[in-house]
Amino acid sequence: MRALVCKAFGVPGTRPPELALEDIPPPQPAADEVVVQIRAASANFPDLLMLDDRYQHRPTLPFVPGYEFAGVVKSVGAGVTGIAPGDTGVAITRSGAFAEQAAVKADRFWKLPAPIDMRHAAAFPLAYGTSYHALKDRARLQPGETLLVLGAAGGVGLAGVQIGKLMGARVIACASSAAKLETCRAHGADELIDYGTEDLRGAIRRVTGGRGVDVVLDPVGGPYSEAALRSLAWDGRLLVVGFTAGEIPRIPLNLPLLKGAWIVGVSWDTFSRRFPEAGARNVADMARWIADGRLVPAIGAEYPLERAELALRDIRERRVQGKVVVVT
Ligand SMILES: NC(=O)c1ccc[n+]([C@@H]2O[C@H](COP(=O)([O-])OP(=O)(O)OC[C@H]3O[C@@H](n4cnc5c(N)ncnc54)[C@H](OP(=O)(O)O)[C@@H]3O)[C@@H](O)[C@H]2O)c1
Repeated sequence: MRALVCKAFGVPGTRPPELALEDIPPPQPAADEVVVQIRAASANFPDLLMLDDRYQHRPTLPFVPGYEFAGVVKSVGAGVTGIAPGDTGVAITRSGAFAEQAAVKADRFWKLPAPIDMRHAAAFPLAYGTSYHALKDRARLQPGETLLVLGAAGGVGLAGVQIGKLMGARVIACASSAAKLETCRAHGADELIDYGTEDLRGAIRRVTGGRGVDVVLDPVGGPYSEAALRSLAWDGRLLVVGFTAGEIPRIPLNLPLLKGAWIVGVSWDTFSRRFPEAGARNVADMARWIADGRLVPAIGAEYPLERAELALRDIRERRVQGKVVVVT
């Protein structure tokens, strides 16, 4: 089968990892695994961290990158129950998705409750899963609350905008260009802030009439986290999701004290492993919203498997709007 194989770590674009499309033997399922014929995968910022050997889960070289995919089950291991060849579903695997087939632990594969477009299916488990888990399970976002999303045109960010609207929030989208903000508006954002040109705190004060926001979804970090924390209303929640800006902020702890505020960590992958039933419920909720047309995953670019490296380059060059999908 064809697969994108990484043989040496590196940073796409500057000190490139050694990546090549190769013919490798197809996987066979271990007792607790299923082998899936992949129809589509999607690229995520953590793929870059893994290719540079900076991710919390370190792959052993050589490895096939790609965190998530959608496809049809080809075979199942001897110990697997409830999944059969021909079932369609999605998986979060951390690696292995940029290939024609992958073996995945049966408990990381979720059958789809209704048929959906395979590109939409590949686009939702990680980014939409993260934002939904963050807003529902961690922030307990309520209808009518104000949600501020940083990096709002990225994969996790745009998912946050869409799911925030579905949950009944007023959504303020923050991004680094007018074009990215237009994408956020097209996906439901009520207010837009260009943090490339405007001071973030001042802009939040302006759009909230000085009240501040109830929840911040923060996949960016850097200088924005503290400005956003300082802009929380009483009892507000700052959701710590990621650090694409590169810098992990150090926060003065008087800030949550003064506002009765919460700084809340988010790890969807770990949550869904520790609490598989709750994780599966979230995946099923999102799949149903997509099947009903209430949620349409935002796909900004699509590449065939032989050009999967371009999906990684788009993320690296901060060009992504929504998700980048790799079709097999
Ligand atoms: N905690 C979890 O469970 C979880 C799960 C999945 C992902 N994550 C994390 O969430 C973050 C976002 O992931 P993603 O896949 O949504 O990424 P993405 O699609 O590439 O979006 C990231 C956004 O970050 C902003 N950004 C600011 N500085 C950047 C830089 N130097 N390079 C690249 N982007 C930069 C960009 O928006 P602007 O240009 O508008 O600033 C970009 O749209 C990552 O840190 C990832 O590791 C966490």
